[in-house]
This record gives sequence, C-alpha cells and structure tokens, in this order.
Amino acid sequence: MRIIVKLGELFGATKLIPIHSAHIAGVSYKTVGDAAIDFLKALAEGGGRVAIPSTSNPSSVDEIHLADVLPPRLKEGQREVLNALHKMGVIPSLTCTPYYEHKPPEGSHLAWSESSAVVYANSILNAHTNREGAPSALASAVIGKTSDYGVHTPEGRRPTAVFEVETQLKNEVDFGALGYYVGKVVEEGVPLLKGLRWSSIDELKQMGASMASSGMTSLFQLKDELPPEGLERATVSRKSLDDIVERLSTSSKEEPDLVFIGCPHCSLEEVKAVARLLKGERLRDDVELWVCTSRYVKRMAEECVRIIEAAGGRVICDTCAIVTWTKELGFDEIMTNSVKAAHYAPTMNDASVRLAPLKECVKASARLD
Ligand code: F3S
Repeated sequence: MRIIVKLGELFGATKLIPIHSAHIAGVSYKTVGDAAIDFLKALAEGGGRVAIPSTSNPSSVDEIHLADVLPPRLKEGQREVLNALHKMGVIPSLTCTPYYEHKPPEGSHLAWSESSAVVYANSILNAHTNREGAPSALASAVIGKTSDYGVHTPEGRRPTAVFEVETQLKNEVDFGALGYYVGKVVEEGVPLLKGLRWSSIDELKQMGASMASSGMTSLFQLKDELPPEGLERATVSRKSLDDIVERLSTSSKEEPDLVFIGCPHCSLEEVKAVARLLKGERLRDDVELWVCTSRYVKRMAEECVRIIEAAGGRVICDTCAIVTWTKELGFDEIMTNSVKAAHYAPTMNDASVRLAPLKECVKASARLD
C-alpha cells in the first residue's frame, strides 16, 4: 500500500482505483538476479497474496528445450523466483502476451508491467494501464488497486504529438522501425499516428513493442479525426525507417547462429506463418530456430508445432532469446524480425543482430528458395 500511495502522490493522483488484473514482470532470473529473490521471498513468507488475477512475464527457462542445457545454479535461481510468485498466487503464464489467453475487457483498469503488453493493452484493447515497474505491479496485485493517474485518466490518454507517416510500410520490421522512431521522439508522451495503411494486429504489436523500447510511452493513438491544435508534429520518411534498421543490424556475418521469432511472444497467426514456410522443409544443421510463444498459443497450434519441430525448429515457451542465457548456449549472431529484440540483444545477450522480416528469417534457417 505504501508503494502504491507514494507513486500516486508523485504523479498527482487523488485516489486509488480497483483493477481488473495485474501482470508481473521481473520474473526472469537472468534479468533480476538474487536481490529479487530476497524481495519476493520476504513478501511471500510474510503472507503476501494477490487479490486479483495476476499473470507473470517470461522466466529464463523452457523446461522442455533448455532445462537440460542450462547450468543447475541458474535453474535453481529461476526456481526460487517462480516458487515465491506461486506462493503468492500469481498465475504462471510466463508470457509477455498474457492478453491472448486473458483478454482484459475494454475500458478496464489494470496494473501491468511488461512494456510491450502495456502498449498493446492501452492502444489495441483499449484497456487502461500505466507502465508499472515489477514491484509496483506486484504491490497492486496484492491490494487489488492502483493510483489514478497517467493513462487511467482521460487527460493522460490525449495525444501529445502527431506523426505523419509518409511512406508505405512493407512488413513487420518497418512497423517495428516506425515504433522505434516514434518512441525516441515522443519519449513518455502519447503519439497520434496518421497516414498508416491498413495494419494487422501483429504489425501493431511489433510497432508498440519497439516504441516502448526506445521510449517510455505506454499508448499510441490511431484515430483519424483532427488532432487538437498546437501539437508538436513530425513526419516519418522511408529514410528514417531504413536508418533505424541499418543501425540495429550490427552483424557482419552472413549466417546467424540463432533465428529468433516471437518477440513479443508469437500469436497463433505468427506461429501459423512460420509453419506454412517450413512445411516439408528441413533446417540447416548450423542454425537453430526458436519460435517463442505462450503455452496457451502452443496448445492452440498443435499441428503447426508438429510441422516446425519436424523441420528441426524449437517452439519455446516460458522464456525468449533475450531473457535467457543465449551467450552461455553458444549463440553470438541472432537473426530476428523484432526491432525490440534487435534493440536489446547487443546489451542483454552480447550478440550481433541481423534484422529481417519473418520470411527471410525462416529462409535463413532452412535455406529456402
Ligand atoms: Fe517478450 Fe522476451 Fe520480447 S519477454 S517482449 S519476447 S524480450
């Protein structure tokens, strides 16, 4: 309660509001380390229990594909984090896309702490959640409330800048690059994007995830109505997007060690797209393909999983290439269609990156024509 009230005071809230759900980040032992274990254990052993449905972000281990290859000491640290969360009643969804299984109602208030899921919930599902830190999302989960500020209020959802997109976006990498550009410029404001052609939900997911990586925004608007007068305006050209893709493509090698699809975790449509490309194919021996998704989507995609795994790929759950120990697993060159992953891989994984659309990524892993 003290955490939530203090945050509310800092941001000018005058009341607490009930929330529909919480989503807790800070679950991967690789990213949080031992200090988090002490904090979570103290809460769990002190009787802390969640009061509302509360899901969890990815961990650092997939029990089927990675448990046997990671050192016991790392797996033990991860187990301790998960045990403490379990004791508090957190649902072990272990995905950054909790909205596929538990879609929050339109207009509901939430306390979510995975930046890509926050942008998705606010902008695509029209729910309301500030970009919580892991401790504040957990605190909200325990008391079932959050402070009423930011995007919970109508003023906090108003656009602060207009972006005119002057170029046709060709694929999800372009959408990611657009998000990255906008996020950098708008920082923690609310961008209104104009000039976008029809876009799929998965393309918007990529755009939101990268926007939240380069900036601190938690919401974008696409409404085509006239924006309020006096807003800052920017145009986005083809060159701005190409420059971003070039800057984030740091690999000089022809071949990747790991092709990573699923940042954020794949939707059912994305898993199907990979399976369509791989049907009857065989992956190269010197490249691994990881298709990261939630257990929920994996269950729904049984036939596609069979096709991907028959080709030699891995459909990985509960983690992703960024929040597990790829370096220790021998991967130095990561190819991905995710601008968010390309942003984090050099620092979080000490890896070089090749950024390309899904079709090219899958081609590179299987030598398709
Ligand atoms: Fe999810 Fe991992 Fe990307 S947690 S958003 S797939 S960095």
